[in-house]
Amino acid sequence: MRIIQLSDLHVRANRAFAFNVADSAAALEKTVAHLAAMQPAPDCVVISGDIAEHGEAGAYELTAEILAGLAAPVYVLPGNHDSRENLLRILGAYCPADPEAAPHICYAIPCGHVRLVIIDSSRPDAHSGRLHAPVARWLEKTLAENGSTPALVFAHHPPFLSGMGLMDEPYDRPEELARILRGSPGARYCCGHLHRGLTTVWEGIPAVVCPPVVMHIELDLSPQGGDVFSLDAPGYLLHHVYDGRVNTHFCRVPGTFPHGGPYSFSNPPRPDAEA
Ligand SMILES: [Fe+2]
Ligand SMILES: [Fe+2]
Repeated sequence: MRIIQLSDLHVRANRAFAFNVADSAAALEKTVAHLAAMQPAPDCVVISGDIAEHGEAGAYELTAEILAGLAAPVYVLPGNHDSRENLLRILGAYCPADPEAAPHICYAIPCGHVRLVIIDSSRPDAHSGRLHAPVARWLEKTLAENGSTPALVFAHHPPFLSGMGLMDEPYDRPEELARILRGSPGARYCCGHLHRGLTTVWEGIPAVVCPPVVMHIELDLSPQGGDVFSLDAPGYLLHHVYDGRVNTHFCRVPGTFPHGGPYSFSNPPRPDAEA
């Protein structure tokens, strides 16, 4: 069983560049072409949020066009840049949200020897994440329903600090999330948002952060860190269910990509900037 995780696509309507410099539509197209040709084929693709840069309908329409190139089932969830409403309306085929958790986007998918458990950590108009009370109730109930099958829990935000300065905004109600996940043996937390690959054990729970498709944040562990990104080949994770475990591989899409930077999120390049 091969589960691909993509994160942080930051697609814009009309193929506009994210932060005026990242050709996110082209990066996603090359990523999709790579995954479509992968042998053995992936069993599914999970996209852990920040699909659209500004949550606009045109960005989701363009994303849907590009994702149509994948034969594998695709599952999506919202990040802080997304609009839940537009995501559900336009990418609803990739997002079988359980009405019990509405308006939050949560659902569970059986996947061989594991379960994909998708939860919504986003909140409107905020950069940071939260364990919403309805999501907490849904997650605890869902994990208990089939406790013997290990869960890969996908969300956008990490509930732990990374040390990357400006990216470290407090997650709301992390203790409750830890308590629920600890009650599910074998659970692994898989998120994005940091725009860097990272793995850790948080409160006894294995956790992994997916590298981005676009805008790789430069490693800077100072209080000012987290504001500088560069352009590079898209990253992704391959969660391989193998020999009774989940091995998570950190991967890069092969091929030729613009390389550029450093650029600043808080002071982005002018619209006419080129990589
Ligand atoms: Fe992002
Ligand atoms: Fe994010």
